[in-house]
Amino acid sequence: MCGIVGYIGNRNSQNILLEGLKKLEYRGYDSAGVAIHTEAGLELRKTKGRISELETRLEAQPLTGFAGIGHTRWATHGKPSDANSHPHTDNDMKISVVHNGIIENHLQLKEELEQLGYRFLSETDTEVISHLIAHHYEGDLTEAVRKAVSQVRGAYAIAVLSEHEPDKLVAVRWASPLIIGVGQGENFIGSDIPAILEYTRDVYILNDGEMAVLTRDGVELMTLEGNFIAKQLFHIDWDLMMAEKNGFDTFMLKEIHDQPRAYQDTMRGRINEGKEIVLPGMTLSAEQIRGLKQIHMVACGTAYHAALVGKTVIERLTRIPVEVDLASEYRYRMPVIRENTLVIAVSQSGETADTLAAMREARQCGARVMAITNVIGSSVAREADDVLFTLAGPEIAVASTKAYSSQLIAFYLLGLFMAQSMETLDQASLIELIAMLERLPSQVEEMLEGLEPVRQIAEQISNQNHLFFIGRGLDYSLAMEASLKLKEISYIHSEAYAAGELKHGSLALIEEGTPVIALATQELLLEKTASNIKEVKARGAYVIALALEGQTELEKTADQVIYVPRTYSLLAPALAVVPLQLLAYYTASIRGNDVDKPRNLAKSVTVE
Ligand code: F6R
Repeated sequence: MCGIVGYIGNRNSQNILLEGLKKLEYRGYDSAGVAIHTEAGLELRKTKGRISELETRLEAQPLTGFAGIGHTRWATHGKPSDANSHPHTDNDMKISVVHNGIIENHLQLKEELEQLGYRFLSETDTEVISHLIAHHYEGDLTEAVRKAVSQVRGAYAIAVLSEHEPDKLVAVRWASPLIIGVGQGENFIGSDIPAILEYTRDVYILNDGEMAVLTRDGVELMTLEGNFIAKQLFHIDWDLMMAEKNGFDTFMLKEIHDQPRAYQDTMRGRINEGKEIVLPGMTLSAEQIRGLKQIHMVACGTAYHAALVGKTVIERLTRIPVEVDLASEYRYRMPVIRENTLVIAVSQSGETADTLAAMREARQCGARVMAITNVIGSSVAREADDVLFTLAGPEIAVASTKAYSSQLIAFYLLGLFMAQSMETLDQASLIELIAMLERLPSQVEEMLEGLEPVRQIAEQISNQNHLFFIGRGLDYSLAMEASLKLKEISYIHSEAYAAGELKHGSLALIEEGTPVIALATQELLLEKTASNIKEVKARGAYVIALALEGQTELEKTADQVIYVPRTYSLLAPALAVVPLQLLAYYTASIRGNDVDKPRNLAKSVTVE
């Protein structure tokens, strides 16, 4: 995701900002820039591409000044480009702003500001902030920033540098992390600890609704209402690698814990106050949605498993028939694409060769193509007619976790959006489903705090050679993902089976002690799954069941039961996936495997 760094002190800021930005590179970005207050006033260098390109620009035209802000951008509004890179300024180039997060009401604010005569030079949501600060500036930068942010809705971590008051930096946080580093005769801003770790280990961690005013000699902390606050300095004793992983041992574990935020970010701005789904930028009209005859989904690996969940979600909510294909099969199977077919390509990276080829094949056959992807500016995003971005932030571990679960959130949003257009669901049910969807981030957070039993199960299965995941309906789709996760990082062979299918062959493999993980979150299928659990138990299996809180009857049949918070069956995969990811994670760790870089695998598969 985007990164912020800020410096004020008695050293030249250019290299401190550059070094800070380089420490944030691991988070992923598509452009970078700095604003520094020099003798000539506020000066900017920014560019699409790598930090090395910014560095080349700064070598050719260096900047000298003791206060500056810098940014690495991971595009959310507007493609990666020089103009969309941060910092953004007001029209008089007196105020510069870097921002992480999303301003939900930027379109409305932009319209109002344009009517007041402000000119916009980028497609970003951030630019409204620089114009708003300029609009409110009457000799007090802190006050102007306060007034500006009181008008914006959404998530933001902001750092501001102004030519009006070049001896200070102002920073504000709301729902996007921001820390203030305290040094000797110099102070720092960072969106993450690695950005400033080389210079200081003493930081203030801002909470939502707090702001900081930094000069070279001190830091003042206050609320957005202007009340001064005292905060304890936090001393960081992590090394750089630990800081990049936010204190977790691996990127995978960090990314599993990123999920509550990834869910929130993917939903942000897409559910309005009237509890309607709004998908800004979606060009597929209500009439076109009503006219759809069929949907095809194409994807690979984990994204394919997300599409299987997406199929059930869309079919249940809209009754439009959906087919899901592995992209590597679809591209060669001469798919039957009739009129009014929508093809949805699902890809975290947006660069997977097979998914791209399947998407191009569909296009050639006349289909309209939609993409669900995590990377703005990726090939899949560029080639699709419509894109629904997951906002999971960069995923660094090879095994996908938060990208998969954010794809599920994208499918819920899309399914509900279509149901709204088609009126296939009554208003009350829509509102209830949306309210439950909004609860998922806090439910995941709650779950992440109580999953110690999963570690114990991992101990039990870590010396096994093979095991089974079984489930029905959405539990079967999730079982496939759980099985892939375990295979790819623990190297234990596992199979996912539709629970009702075992007796047609594979039951022969169950013997005394064979571990079977039975997913049983689908209430209407509970009794059926319970019978399948009995079948495997009768052959000696050791059964670990995964159920919704309150489904205690499973304790009578399974050897162990792990519970996930109650939700609607349709939403259950977005919760139940978390213990399954952790099961794979702990099992692989206990076996001593490199969890972030499993053997034989690459993060992005750009070859056939
Ligand atoms: C497994 C995993 C892969 C990817 C697959 C598609 O954890 O990450 O199975 O899901 O290679 O990648 P994307 O989603 O980038 O198209």
